[in-house]
Amino acid sequence: MLYIGIDLGTSACKLLLVDEEGQVRNTVTKEYPLSFPRPGWSEQDPAHWWAAVQSGVPELLTGFDASEVKGIGAGGQMHGLVALDGTDHVLRPAILWNDGRTAKEVDYLNETVGREKLSGYTANIAFAGFTAPKLLWMRENEPDLFAKIEKIMLPKDYLVYRLTGVHATDYSDASGMLLLDVEHRRWSKEMCGICGVTEKQLPKLFESWEPVGTLRSDVAKTIGLPESVVVCAGAGDNAAAAVGTGTVGAGGCNISLGTSGTIFISSEKFGVDPNNALHSFAHADGGYHLMGCMLSAASCNKWWQDEIIGTTDYKGEEAKITPCKLGRNHVYFLPYLMGERSPINDTNARGCFIGMTMDTTRADMLQAVLEGVAFAIRDSFEVAKSLGVSIPRSNICGGGSRSPLWKTIMSNVLGIPLDTVATEQGPGYGGAILAMVAAGRFPSVQAACRELVSVADTVEPDLALTALYEVCYRQFQRIYPACKALFPQIQ
Ligand code: XUL
Repeated sequence: MLYIGIDLGTSACKLLLVDEEGQVRNTVTKEYPLSFPRPGWSEQDPAHWWAAVQSGVPELLTGFDASEVKGIGAGGQMHGLVALDGTDHVLRPAILWNDGRTAKEVDYLNETVGREKLSGYTANIAFAGFTAPKLLWMRENEPDLFAKIEKIMLPKDYLVYRLTGVHATDYSDASGMLLLDVEHRRWSKEMCGICGVTEKQLPKLFESWEPVGTLRSDVAKTIGLPESVVVCAGAGDNAAAAVGTGTVGAGGCNISLGTSGTIFISSEKFGVDPNNALHSFAHADGGYHLMGCMLSAASCNKWWQDEIIGTTDYKGEEAKITPCKLGRNHVYFLPYLMGERSPINDTNARGCFIGMTMDTTRADMLQAVLEGVAFAIRDSFEVAKSLGVSIPRSNICGGGSRSPLWKTIMSNVLGIPLDTVATEQGPGYGGAILAMVAAGRFPSVQAACRELVSVADTVEPDLALTALYEVCYRQFQRIYPACKALFPQIQ
């Protein structure tokens, strides 16, 4: 039997074909454009996502028996607002998770409605990327389109809808809308009222592994699959990646170095950060998680290498950073290229380098970029520790985790061992696991992870290097507060 896992990312959609033993048998990646129509805005056309799946699935199945496919599960970029009209047509390009246009709406929610109320209704406060502030923005700036909204959904829900015809979402992804009462796993009537939407406009809620339906017959024909294929609700990409690395149940931690950077702490019990610096969301295993999300992680490295120094030889560039340089860099980088979410919640924040001298090299600058991202992850790690959460080790996944140097930096900045799992395929693998549970291959997400996920490689921190990085981190912590007031003035 075979299962398809979909990772609906920001720059590409990655499809995985996984067999019942959890072996990845084939992968296909389809890239699509991302548009930044104004500074700080970030949009994508949902038609591109669907086109990626329509063309990707037949390619994925080439050489395999399609009748063996039993289930499909997707993990998708979170928070994006997809709005459909009464004929299920997309009303405008999706406004994505890293879009910063809603500063005014976020202020209204956090200051006028009030953080305490929001946290009481949803377990979270407003951040610019979340879906609710985008609805308020649409109501104010595109009232005609807003009036036409019949259905609101998240990016991977749009795929599930195209596959099955059902308007569905799951609790992990719905948590990031600021419309869900996370603790009780139901839509918040208060938040719907504040945003001017009704529950009828929201998708039906499912657990991530629950079957939403089977394939529409026209879709089954087009993509070459049997109509009987079960499609599960899927999960937000971070919850799906956590499933894919076996970060389920109590006490696990997963760090993802993708376009965004996240630290994801899994828990069986519901909990809230009293300062709401970390998100309190439902997990895809039936439990909950706390999460810190930085908006630019591996994308800082990509920006530095592709755009600024103009190379695609990432390995060659990293090779110039010799081990004796680690923990001794005088250059620091604030990785706030798209503003920042956790823990500072500042859409005005911007990237900056500080500390260069005439002998600073290009390698020092790259090192500062990699270290800046690690320090920013540490900021959320510290918030978690301050809540009494113990994080003795963590999994690590995502494109950035393929760099042994970056993993070494991260492990020593955090002072903990970092594990990489054998089938590190990010959210798509989690999606495939959820599909297996939906199709009855495993009784639960936890049982599937126990059988399918194992650690292949561990990076251990070095005591001396951790001590050096401790000093660097103390310096890093002083830079943002010193620059904060400048950022709004240099927009
Ligand atoms: C999480 C978040 C990002 C996106 C990236 O809150 O906004 O990690 O899900 O796809």
